[in-house]
Amino acid sequence: MAATSRRLEGNVALITGAASGIGECFAKLFAEHGAKIVIADIQDQLGQAVCEAIGLSNSKYVHCDVTNEEDIKNAVDIAVATFGKLDIMFNNAGIVDPYKERVIDNEKPDFERVLNVNVTGVLLGMKHAARVMVPARSGSIISMASVASNIGGAATHAYTCAKHAVTGLTKSLAVELGQFSIRVNCLSPYAIATPIAITYFGLDKETLENKANSLANLKGVTLKTYDIAKAAIFLASDEAKYISGQNLSIDGGFSIVNPSFNLFQYPENL
Ligand SMILES: NC(=O)c1ccc[n+]([C@@H]2O[C@H](COP(=O)([O-])OP(=O)(O)OC[C@H]3O[C@@H](n4cnc5c(N)ncnc54)[C@H](O)[C@@H]3O)[C@@H](O)[C@H]2O)c1
Repeated sequence: MAATSRRLEGNVALITGAASGIGECFAKLFAEHGAKIVIADIQDQLGQAVCEAIGLSNSKYVHCDVTNEEDIKNAVDIAVATFGKLDIMFNNAGIVDPYKERVIDNEKPDFERVLNVNVTGVLLGMKHAARVMVPARSGSIISMASVASNIGGAATHAYTCAKHAVTGLTKSLAVELGQFSIRVNCLSPYAIATPIAITYFGLDKETLENKANSLANLKGVTLKTYDIAKAAIFLASDEAKYISGQNLSIDGGFSIVNPSFNLFQYPENL
């Protein structure tokens, strides 16, 4: 869908985990809005293909494992060397561990792997973005949390823990970097049928969307990656110039309701 106005004209954005899913959609929409894009991912072929779809004069792919500080440092340096600066850092890369009903079946390596990518990777992204944004006295850092950053019982223990940590890091960095006009926020979407979710739930796209819709608070609409990307454009753009330290939920109210009360259910035939 064509952008109605180019809200990120002249901006340079580095997006981790943009070879697929939500990050890929961010990269394409950010580019439509006039941003130059650096895609940092470990899926080289997919990442390169996203750049080719965007246009190689406006985008660059860099192999980057977000748990490796040298890789993150290199990705930020490549963004600056290629496009002259870094305005938007999007810490989007994330993984999930296998679902286990019981905590006693959880494996320490699975827990550590999730925290390593979903928390340490975010911290490293924030750190190296700050390294170039502080001297510039501007920038917007956005990280990907989840509905699981607000509530328990929506994902595994490791994932829930990691996404809660992303909101903590967001607040902490927003405090430190506010003095340099750098805004730090995160996004918390409800379930979307991307590769990570399809693998996690073991359902095909349509079945997963139907399942998510049946459990949703907001009925009659299906959350798409494009909806998350539009919220990201808002947070990254000047329209959000006084918004910092926030966790923006894109969950149709899922995380603020306790459905067990069922207080406002209208009769079926109304
Ligand atoms: N899909 C959902 O329902 C949902 C809901 C809320 C939040 N999220 C979050 O959105 C973000 C994007 O997930 P998605 O749904 O698009 O999944 P996805 O699997 O399609 O995309 C994740 C991307 O991250 C990359 N990645 C994984 N480990 C990496 C690493 N160590 N270094 C660099 N890149 C790495 C993958 O290669 C992939 O391209 C994640 O942080 C996820 O937790 C997803």
